[in-house]
Amino acid sequence: MKWNYENDIAYENIDIDKIKENRFLFETLAIASFIEITSDVYDANLSEYYKGDDTTVEWLNQTWAPEEIQHGKSLKQYINTVWPEFEWEKHYNVFTKNYLPLCKVDALESTRAREMVARMVVETGTSTLYKALVNYAKEINEPVLESLTLKISKDEVYHFEMFEKVFKKYKDKEKLTRKEITKILYIRLKEINNEDMKIAFEALQSDESYDAYLQQLSQVAKKHYPYKMATKMFIRPLDLHDSFERIVAMTVSPAFKILGI
Ligand SMILES: [Fe+2]
Ligand SMILES: [Fe+2]
Repeated sequence: MKWNYENDIAYENIDIDKIKENRFLFETLAIASFIEITSDVYDANLSEYYKGDDTTVEWLNQTWAPEEIQHGKSLKQYINTVWPEFEWEKHYNVFTKNYLPLCKVDALESTRAREMVARMVVETGTSTLYKALVNYAKEINEPVLESLTLKISKDEVYHFEMFEKVFKKYKDKEKLTRKEITKILYIRLKEINNEDMKIAFEALQSDESYDAYLQQLSQVAKKHYPYKMATKMFIRPLDLHDSFERIVAMTVSPAFKILGI
């Protein structure tokens, strides 16, 4: 791991009074902490699915999962520092009760290359969402949050690149066509604002509605979401030529805006 959540984040320097009333920030970080900290379940499913591919399984177990879990732990510590009255464990139990039944091996794509396309979309989503939070942290002038979300965002980009390597390993063997890849991309794109987030939000038992939260998220996204970065990463599995990539990027980019992310 490139950083350590206990030693490298200056939680003690957070200006608590400044952000304490920021409900949107609290909810966003809590949602992310729940999902990230539960990555071990996905790790087990993926390890099973790529059994025999020792390099991939080893990387998943020794690097990917510990990094994702660390993301969750660092966010949890941030929350406990600013909002100590929030009973994180109690709400996390509500989350896992509803979330774990959905994390089944049969929820994976039908082949190894296809699953990697799905993983790349997920990492596109996480790296860009954290990048949006970096920009947001700058706006509200919260340097500890800025440094934390930047570290996480960089990890997610690295995960994306590693999943891309695995994808390339299986792509030709499976003779995946661009048409098939496009289909997976679109299905997964629609799922970015997905069930996981809703379940995590509901576990917060907030008196605000999920729709109201999504509206705020889309307001923040309009200003801070790195649409260019998202589009570029999203279409990478298609392995297009530079000039063609620009044209496709232009047609895909509005899709992110319509989704409100
Ligand atoms: Fe993560
Ligand atoms: Fe990741």
